[in-house]
Amino acid sequence: MAGKRGALIVLEGVDKAGKTTQCSKLVQALKQSGRPAEMLRFPDRTTTIVQLISSYLEKRTELEGHAVHLLFSANRWELVPLMKKKLEQGITLVVDRYAFSGVAFTSAKPGFCLDWCMKSDVGLPKLDLVMFLEQSSAEAALRGHFGEERYETSVFQRLVQQKFEPLMKDESVNWQVRGQLG
Ligand code: TYD
Repeated sequence: MAGKRGALIVLEGVDKAGKTTQCSKLVQALKQSGRPAEMLRFPDRTTTIVQLISSYLEKRTELEGHAVHLLFSANRWELVPLMKKKLEQGITLVVDRYAFSGVAFTSAKPGFCLDWCMKSDVGLPKLDLVMFLEQSSAEAALRGHFGEERYETSVFQRLVQQKFEPLMKDESVNWQVRGQLG
């Protein structure tokens, strides 16, 4: 008899909202309660596609905006077989960013509409829950290393936050919005 499928849980938010810390805590809590769980993050830093993304984020190379968007999306697609395998094995996946980040960050740039931004991720594994960690951009700017990577300006992060808002209104997705967690 097939075992129970793992859950797919995503944490989203602007940069430096504490997603990585909360993902680790959640994985730990799940494991302690006897549920197998693992963490993933996007961009996933283990693939060859991500080398282009990292170089762009670290401002070492320039890339056209549509091309960057599709690279982020491709980076998710290349992990799909592994994600499906783990979920089928009953492992709950706690994911630090998913397609919502892809849509919110790209559509915060001039000349991109939500509709185009959503297309390349259609068909990705469906989520059971997405938690959005709220944080003001002023709070974000106080966190360590803010300002080093390409998107880390308060102005851009405010735009990203605004682009997340319509996504959170999609009732076909189980959104939970949370303030700063301890
Ligand atoms: P991440 O490594 O999660 O950064 P941080 O640890 O600072 O939160 O993500 C790197 C950057 O990539 C971040 O600014 C968000 C951006 N991003 C996109 O623009 N599109 C995407 O699809 C994803 C997943 C991230």
